[in-house]
Amino acid sequence: MADVPKDLMQEIKRLEEMFTVDTAKLKAITEHFISELAKGLSVEGGSIPMNPTWCMAFPTGYETGTFLALDMGGTNLRVCEIILTDEKSEFDIIQSKYRMPEELKSGTADELWEYIADCLQQFIESHHGTKDLERLPLGFTFSYPATQDYIDHGVLQRWTKGFDIDGVEGHNVVPMFEAAIAKRGVPIKLTALINDTTGTLIASAYTDTKMKIGCIFGTGCNAAYMENVGSIPKLAHMNLPPDTPMAINCEWGAFDNEHKVLPRTPYDIIIDKDSPRPGQQAFEKMIAGLYLGELFRLVLVDLHDNKEVHIFEGQNIDKLRKAYTLDSSFLSMVEEDPFENLSETGDLFQNKLGIVANHPELELIRRLAELIGTRAARLSSCGVAAIAKKKGYETCHVGADGSVFNKYPHFKQRGAQALREILDWAPKKSSKEEDPIEILAAEDGSGVGAALIAALTLKRVKEGNMAGILHPENFK
Ligand code: BGC
Repeated sequence: MADVPKDLMQEIKRLEEMFTVDTAKLKAITEHFISELAKGLSVEGGSIPMNPTWCMAFPTGYETGTFLALDMGGTNLRVCEIILTDEKSEFDIIQSKYRMPEELKSGTADELWEYIADCLQQFIESHHGTKDLERLPLGFTFSYPATQDYIDHGVLQRWTKGFDIDGVEGHNVVPMFEAAIAKRGVPIKLTALINDTTGTLIASAYTDTKMKIGCIFGTGCNAAYMENVGSIPKLAHMNLPPDTPMAINCEWGAFDNEHKVLPRTPYDIIIDKDSPRPGQQAFEKMIAGLYLGELFRLVLVDLHDNKEVHIFEGQNIDKLRKAYTLDSSFLSMVEEDPFENLSETGDLFQNKLGIVANHPELELIRRLAELIGTRAARLSSCGVAAIAKKKGYETCHVGADGSVFNKYPHFKQRGAQALREILDWAPKKSSKEEDPIEILAAEDGSGVGAALIAALTLKRVKEGNMAGILHPENFK
């Protein structure tokens, strides 16, 4: 950064201080996280919902059967047919993706359910024709916080990830979905409503028994793990044996909604204030893919308008002023620019935003992307470390999925480094040595995971375990 003028350098320093989370802070966040996980499981509850999911076992690898899986993600809707075969941990899958139109996210509830039912109908007709089909069991991956008194039930606590559809929050989503399906005569029976993190946990454990935590680092951010019912005071009234396993969908995006430990910057505060659900998902808004590009944009606009340095002086930055115009893939591209002179970043700014950035400005841009990406990875690891510490896991695998985990440069290494600092691991003796806790790419949670959870539920119902089942007729 030799050619960066002093005033710009000062701004870079200021940003570094603002966005850097040191080891001591990571540790403090993790400790608070552990107590908040427990609070979420208590009768009084806390900000992290810690939702029991009624997924009550890890798979053995010997589950079998044909299942449908529906994944209502933020960007796409995916329908899959999964055959869990007789071979251990083997499956066949066919799938179709449908784009989730952006307008649906703030449209009406009816439009949403009709769209989902249409996609499902299209999928079944294209794979099975219109012949009479026995109703197939379906696992529905609904990746939003939902209170589940039963596995085939889920009351949406609140929309996240920018969704804002009236008339769904506070309601059980299953009957709404089923009504749209019934109208079309689509031959399915909903066996399990699941979260993407629970699906990720179960799908990953299907092929690797060391997997103990499932995480999503994507548009949103969250984790699930297996708890014992004896450690879930809010389920005491169910009188289940204390050693009964119960997958918990943490909904850790809501961690620190009361702003006790997270080092929020003024930019984080703006993101929250301008979001459809201010005050919610404090942790997620600092980490998840939906927000990384927006954070970056807010900093740049602030530097242009308000600071003495005036980056992009005299240029029209109208395109940059548009909220959510940059997504996390833009940030990824900045971080991936291989050239010393950052010419690819320069091209990106010119092509996407009509801004000509000089070399010192490009240096600032690159550093800012690194700071935002690094903070996200380091904060994410606090959640992983907190679950591992709570459960006393000194070694385990963590299955992770989502666009940020899979595509954002250096996210994995930065997260691993933060875990090392939080958990005080000794330096590795060789680069081949595994970390005690490894965050690895997960198996397909919302496809295979949903099918497995449906299979596990059918199996336990057959064995007479009816805990958390609302509609036993769907399990025959
Ligand atoms: C949702 C979670 C989900 C996560 C990742 C969050 O916004 O609340 O349910 O698991 O995103 O998709």
